[in-house]
Amino acid sequence: MAFNKRVKIKAVLDQSPIGQEITLMGWVRTKRSNKNVSFIALNDGSTITNYQVVADPNVIAEDILKKCSTGACIKIKGTVVESLGSGQSSELNAKTIEVLGEADPEKYPLQPKKHSLEFLREIAHLRMRTNTFGAVFRVRHALAFAVHKYFNDRGFFYIHTPIITASDAEGAGEMFHVTTLPIGNPPRTEDGKVDYKQDFFEREANLTVSGQLEGELAAMALSEIYTFGPTFRAENSNTTRHLAEFWMIEPEMAFYDAEDNQNLAEDFLKYIIQYALENCEEDLKFLAQRAQEEENTKPADQRAELGLIEKLKFVVENDFVRLSYTEAIDILRNSNPNKKKKFQYLIESWGADLQSEHERYLVEKHFKKPVILTDYPKDIKAFYMRQNEDGKTVAAMDILFPGIGEIVGGSQREERLDKLTQRMQEMNIPEEELWWYLDTRRFGATPHAGFGLGFERMVLFVTGMSNIRDVIAFPRTPGNAEF
Ligand code: 4AD
Ligand code: MG
Repeated sequence: MAFNKRVKIKAVLDQSPIGQEITLMGWVRTKRSNKNVSFIALNDGSTITNYQVVADPNVIAEDILKKCSTGACIKIKGTVVESLGSGQSSELNAKTIEVLGEADPEKYPLQPKKHSLEFLREIAHLRMRTNTFGAVFRVRHALAFAVHKYFNDRGFFYIHTPIITASDAEGAGEMFHVTTLPIGNPPRTEDGKVDYKQDFFEREANLTVSGQLEGELAAMALSEIYTFGPTFRAENSNTTRHLAEFWMIEPEMAFYDAEDNQNLAEDFLKYIIQYALENCEEDLKFLAQRAQEEENTKPADQRAELGLIEKLKFVVENDFVRLSYTEAIDILRNSNPNKKKKFQYLIESWGADLQSEHERYLVEKHFKKPVILTDYPKDIKAFYMRQNEDGKTVAAMDILFPGIGEIVGGSQREERLDKLTQRMQEMNIPEEELWWYLDTRRFGATPHAGFGLGFERMVLFVTGMSNIRDVIAFPRTPGNAEF
């Protein structure tokens, strides 16, 4: 059932309604003309495939055809006929064309040629009209849908956690302030500090870095929940893996221990990748080709061994490696790049934080598989992670993916009130501010666990794009909030 009279190109391609009169609407990708006929490649975003419209200059006026230039939006009524040319089984014989929106060829920035991804970032408002970005955003949609389907099918409830918060869930302090106070001249207390009592929320507030703490509250009532929302980090990381605004999926489950959490995470990641393989075949084929072309520009020894689709299938079909931080440190300390001082950060002793070069060594060189790293030193992890018996480590897990590094971070949570408050004191986290969080340890506490998947990092992995700025429509990064 359509709600307007045009049909989508995807439906026409699927059904090939030969002989029927239909209306198509979309944007002109290219037009080729000779004396007798014009061929218009039309795209409406419903699929990567353009649909061929054939316009006879005896039927369609010359001035109309002239306006059907790259980027113009047009409406065509015509008859679906069998295609004589190769490739497509049908095409549209135009009876009337209406130009809905012209695109001056002198000014329209997208031309039917290869533009660099850097250039396209500068015209992010138009880049979705390219094959690459059309494919990326259709795959992104499919992955988001798969996330909801996975959890819904398993009885998890979708919780909307607040975007404005007064707490710092990760204790990392990399937050954007939210205030209505005049920045040049804020009200001050007697000792000269900014007087947040006079601010909108009558206290300091920030954009959230994670929905986890509130997610835990919900899990303590609904058992199995997930969040899927925007999160914000004011870290000044200008890398191909970091955004200041990104989307995170955070399931939180009562009665799960660390291993249950790992099992869920592995199953979930495989499911959404498999969903994309099954539902985005055409787009993934195109993206695989694009990624291959990019690979071919690299020196032979730096090229990926697997193509995009093989890589995705490999992840779905193989068990992830599970190993402890302590085992990983041994591998890294004895690795060639460490011995030959090729790592930027050399691994000298237990306790070192892992950098992405180490994560990628483990995944890409040593195991050649996704890795679930567990039981990190407590000093490099957040306060809420459950403390292990050894007194040194916590029940953390990071999942590391080839080409990406960390894609998931999670843990079993510390449900024991005394251990939790002791850790908060050690880390200078004020108990008064998290009284509500501590209440879940006072009333009906239970072992529980959860994790966070960085959605854009997953989209990056599945699409084979190489910069996180190219998998979110309008990226926010240091120095960039255009569009
Ligand atoms: O490891 P993180 O910081 O974990 C948390 O926020 C926990 N509260 C999650 C939980 O246990 N519920 O972030 C989780 C994931 C990372 O593994 C990474 O994939 C992604 O979020 N991420 C980012 N993605 C893009 N840009 C950034 N600046 C990111 N920071 C983290
Ligand atoms: Mg992390």
